[in-house]
Amino acid sequence: VGQAITVTWRGKPVFIRRRTEQEIASAQSVNLAELRDPEPDSARVKQPQWLILVGICTHLGCVPLGQKSTDPRGDYGGWFCPCHGSHYDTAGRIRRGPAPLNLHLPEYAFLTDTSIRIG
Ligand code: FES
Repeated sequence: VGQAITVTWRGKPVFIRRRTEQEIASAQSVNLAELRDPEPDSARVKQPQWLILVGICTHLGCVPLGQKSTDPRGDYGGWFCPCHGSHYDTAGRIRRGPAPLNLHLPEYAFLTDTSIRIG
């Protein structure tokens, strides 16, 4: 819980984070009217504890920081892109900075509780 890994899919980094209860609660309690790219948390996960994202900032394509426990995670506890300072929340939604859209979601399916197929 609280850890993240990065895998590569079609040449792109895919972030897989097992969210804490606090991260889930924070993602679920956001007022959608405050969001630049409004999406409820429930539309971004299949199982609340597992957040799976394409790890490419929607501004200019950098790989945001936040996968390592020592990385900065920005003002909303998700990811931070230092290129021009985009902050993503614990659902990978853009909250501050120049990126126009939330981090994209890859196609994926749970094969079992512990196995995910991406693509
Ligand atoms: Fe992320 Fe510019 S590529 S802020």
